[in-house]
Amino acid sequence: MAHRVTLIPGDGIGPEVAEAARQVIDASGVKIEWEVVEAGEAVIPKYGTPLPDHVLESIRRNGVALKGPVTTPVGKGFRSVNVTLRQALDLYANVRPARSFEGIKSRYENVDLVVFRENTEDLYAGIEHMVGKDAAESIKIITRHASERIARYAFEYARKNGRRKVTAVHKANIMKLTDGLFLESCRRVAEEYPEIEFEDVIVDALCMRLVQDPTQFDCLVLPNLYGDIVSDLCAGLVGGLGVAPGANIGEKGAVFEAVHGSAPQIAGQNIANPTALILSGVMMLEHIGEREAAARVVRAVRRVLAAGEHVTPDLGGKAGTKEMAAAIIAAME
Ligand code: NAI
Repeated sequence: MAHRVTLIPGDGIGPEVAEAARQVIDASGVKIEWEVVEAGEAVIPKYGTPLPDHVLESIRRNGVALKGPVTTPVGKGFRSVNVTLRQALDLYANVRPARSFEGIKSRYENVDLVVFRENTEDLYAGIEHMVGKDAAESIKIITRHASERIARYAFEYARKNGRRKVTAVHKANIMKLTDGLFLESCRRVAEEYPEIEFEDVIVDALCMRLVQDPTQFDCLVLPNLYGDIVSDLCAGLVGGLGVAPGANIGEKGAVFEAVHGSAPQIAGQNIANPTALILSGVMMLEHIGEREAAARVVRAVRRVLAAGEHVTPDLGGKAGTKEMAAAIIAAME
């Protein structure tokens, strides 16, 4: 039976990398009926909103979506489609693995980290206002419920995937109540998983230690904003945003998307690296139980990266998005 999956191509480089990912996933032998729906600034004239209801309904119905990046205007205009989507569907766990690949030049060769970013609250709650004309205030929301839920997700993942350690990341020395509550929640959940090592690290120290030696960490669990920043740092440790996949997971649905954004400077030029969205597609295949197809895609991606011949300019190659996708399909056995 075919799986029905919502596909949101997005904008900027989104449609190019989404098409590449779709072709590669289809070539893995899995049967998927793609339900293509659009979101972002371009649909505002037609629907009056960048995130029309039928997009949310499609994801609710299918339970799974693969999504290209969507541009968010800075400082003014509509609220981020990405943030609204995560909140509307309560996609509370943002899972971002960072693994080294043979053939990709980076400072370290043996990185294997998974970042678990809380996805629904913190400063991303978007509660901001002006205080008079010359000051602005943003409210940081941290709840025990959301903190325990992301910590439990990280520990469950660690248990199921044979990982050895979970590190909670915070700034509880300064934000004693908000980050203090996050840390206390992680500590409580950690007690339920005695076989998994637990530690906590202050976010600034974490950044320094990650850059010095990323192999000392395994699974990282963080509130929303630190998670956003640290996951880009981790992507940088393994070769950049072009190869960093991600998933947003909740009880009622899951949206798989790359860590990177819409990269407007390189849009429409057939030079965007499709690997990050293809690997997000691999996470999606695993999520829907298609482990063999997922493994087939990963092996093909590894071959193409290791050979280094048909890779995009961000990885030092000369191939276009389409050529790289075609090479991955050709490398599938
Ligand atoms: P970005 O990730 O789009 O770009 C950062 C840098 O990485 C740029 O130099 C870009 O060219 C490069 N890059 C990104 N993806 C690449 C790829 N696949 N291949 C080769 N190079 C790649 O981040 P930026 O510039 O901060 O954001 C651009 C827009 O994307 C903004 O409107 C932002 O709000 C949005 N965004 C959307 C996300 C989503 O839909 N999930 C996530 C992050 C940002």
